[in-house]
Amino acid sequence: MNFIELAKARYSVRKFSDKPVESEKLNAVLDAINLAPTAKNSQAFHVYVVQSAEGMAKMRTLTPCHYGAPMVLIFTKDTQQQWHHPQLPEVVSGVEDASIAATHAMLAASEQGLGTCWLNFFSPQAVSRTYNIPDHEIPVLLLPIGYAAEDCAPADRHTMRKELKELVSYL
Ligand SMILES: Cc1cc2nc3c(=O)[nH]c(=O)nc-3n(C[C@H](O)[C@H](O)[C@H](O)COP(=O)(O)O)c2cc1C
Repeated sequence: MNFIELAKARYSVRKFSDKPVESEKLNAVLDAINLAPTAKNSQAFHVYVVQSAEGMAKMRTLTPCHYGAPMVLIFTKDTQQQWHHPQLPEVVSGVEDASIAATHAMLAASEQGLGTCWLNFFSPQAVSRTYNIPDHEIPVLLLPIGYAAEDCAPADRHTMRKELKELVSYL
């Protein structure tokens, strides 16, 4: 698959099978994460792989959007390592760094034949408390990963895209 084919094939999986994710496939996803660009190469994010029975039981209490995945990645931003604009205090890179890393993970997972669904429907504080995440890290998103169930299909809104002319302006 070339990049456009891969991007077209990806969709948010909201029904996973219980088939476990092979460790080599997880490693391919993690390697892709580590190729993501970050502000000034600060790599101001951390990834927690939740895959133990105990960890996943806790995860199922933290969001209804786990969709039965066998594994969830937690992406945090690292507030100690994120890049700060020297003049503009509101410009910091942590969310961007974590999000680009997660985008790499999402597409690398697709390449491996795995499904994902980006989630922000959770409480960052509750996630931090549950997994003892250090105070200087803030959870940005959750990414369930696994094999799509046989009867899983994209939601209707998957194909509802704005016209390119609404999204792009030439200046
Ligand atoms: C920032 C962000 C937050 C999202 N949060 C959720 C979520 O909490 N639960 C969920 O089921 N999907 C969530 N999604 C998935 C979107 O609903 C989905 O990407 C969008 O509807 C387009 O569909 P597609 O991914 O199938 O192309 C989120 C996506 C993004 C980028």
